[in-house]
Amino acid sequence: MIVDKIGRKFNSLRVSLTAACNYACSYCVPNGKRLSKASNELSARELLKIVRLLQDAAGIEKLRITGGEPLISPKFDEFLEGVMQMDLRDVSLTTNGQFLGKKVELLRDSGIERINVSLDTLNPMRFRQIARGGSLDSVLKAMDKVLEAGIKIKVNMVPLRTSNFSEIVELLDYCLDRDIELRYIELMRMGHLLKGNQFLQDYVSMAAILEKIGEKYPFERTDAPHDSTAQRFLVGKKGSFGIIANESEPFCRSCTRLRVSSDGYLYGCLSNSKRHDLKALLSLSPEKALVSFQSVLANALLDKKLSFQGETTVMKFIGG
Ligand code: 5AD
Repeated sequence: MIVDKIGRKFNSLRVSLTAACNYACSYCVPNGKRLSKASNELSARELLKIVRLLQDAAGIEKLRITGGEPLISPKFDEFLEGVMQMDLRDVSLTTNGQFLGKKVELLRDSGIERINVSLDTLNPMRFRQIARGGSLDSVLKAMDKVLEAGIKIKVNMVPLRTSNFSEIVELLDYCLDRDIELRYIELMRMGHLLKGNQFLQDYVSMAAILEKIGEKYPFERTDAPHDSTAQRFLVGKKGSFGIIANESEPFCRSCTRLRVSSDGYLYGCLSNSKRHDLKALLSLSPEKALVSFQSVLANALLDKKLSFQGETTVMKFIGG
């Protein structure tokens, strides 16, 4: 097991199947330009090989499938089948939900237990302004199907001061009514938000989110698991919600995440664009590959920062 000097290790892997996305969210990409594929994206087989090697070298227990948007990748079905056969404690998926409706049977049959859907608004007009692609209706219908299939959903909402701020409670009600856990994500200084004043205009803090919710519901804070990134709150008997407070309560000191991009690079930290080439190691013999992966992992662990400082490139093509 590789552990750094403040006790951090890699435990939770996020694999981006493709950098392409059918949305162009206003806080993710500037100018409404959609994200396209990286030039050398790996096949499902190659990505699965990487996962196996990371599992052997780092003791990965949790895996999340991300993008771009993973459900637009033709690799999705094969990759899902492959990871479900591995001995992982937890496999999950982050999707914008647009094509989720078509995958419900496949997902149910795969045995996946949890899905995160990114959904910032329940208002069709505002949806068009934020996502700049897709339709709200297909996301909501897909979520109903997923719940009917017995798969748990978490919704990720990024509250934005100049846009969906007024929907903080509305979205919570929607989720509480359906036994969905809502997770508010504080806006992060990523990509184009590093420059200019969009970040300052739109950032909503955990305190501001809680104040808004407090106007309608009493709530209490509850313990979250050690390596969880979310602060969790109970709303009486109605359910719970979480806040990922990247800015106001950063969780860098207990971060166990590592990320693999669709073109085969390993990233040890979301606040560091430093990356390590894994695809070059795939042609090595199994023994040599394992040793090389171990040394890459030791280096990637050194990339982890102690606080989140923002980064220009990473989030755009590695789904968070
Ligand atoms: N700040 C916070 N969350 C973001 N996401 C994408 N960009 C940002 C940002 N700058 C969210 C998406 C998705 C999750 C993977 O990351 O809304 O829910």
